[in-house]
Amino acid sequence: MTEREPLLAALEWQLAAGVDEVVGFEPADRFAPPPERKAPAAPPPARRAAPVAAHPVAAVEASSGDVARTADLDALRGLLLAFDGCALKKTATNTVFGEGPAGARLMIVGEAPGADEDRQGRPFVGPSGRLLERMLAAIGFRREEVYIANTVYWRPPGNRTPSAEEVEACRPFVDRQIALVAPEVLMLAGGAAAKTLLGTTEGIMRLRGRWQRLAAADGPVDVMPTFHPAFLLRSPARKREAWRDLLAVKARLETARS
Ligand code: URA
Repeated sequence: MTEREPLLAALEWQLAAGVDEVVGFEPADRFAPPPERKAPAAPPPARRAAPVAAHPVAAVEASSGDVARTADLDALRGLLLAFDGCALKKTATNTVFGEGPAGARLMIVGEAPGADEDRQGRPFVGPSGRLLERMLAAIGFRREEVYIANTVYWRPPGNRTPSAEEVEACRPFVDRQIALVAPEVLMLAGGAAAKTLLGTTEGIMRLRGRWQRLAAADGPVDVMPTFHPAFLLRSPARKREAWRDLLAVKARLETARS
């Protein structure tokens, strides 16, 4: 056996386990207990702070009730950054919150950040993102005009599908983003986002292209499920159907404006 063989075998084993990129030169123990936090000095009884925490330490315990009461996207992002209720956070490099203008007419929800998104802390910035931007441009939207989010906020190791528990833990945050952005049309990119938000077991092959409605906090939102850009990169022949979905979205937004 040469010297290279055991090293190659170790590398292959790591790849199979989902360790598919180098993120730093120093090993990080992501499972080490967090450093002890100093208990904040108790405030005088008469001036006790309100229970909804702006302080990150307290916000870690934020409940879905806290999330549902956030007044704007910045506050929601703050709550997410302090949220420790999803195991994916332990292995991710960055939290990938949604981005785009509050009040965007069109919102897109994908599945989960990939390697590029994890590195940059922004949604849809890799190859899927570049295709998504071209798809948006084809119906007259610049990326900056659209609110883009995911159903989970940390990259699943090896890009595996997020588990039901991980999706469930992150769910209040996507619901609140939809409520705060209040888009006229919500486009769900791929089967995972469609299943999560529409609460259905139907696959994207059957769902795509059929208008749905989602009961959001401020009233119903028109929803168009469509193929995920990553799927379209692998199966370019399906772009024709995605194009039809995009045209339906464009038409709905034009009708709403006239
Ligand atoms: N795929 C997704 O679903 N979301 C991203 O942010 C990137 C790729």
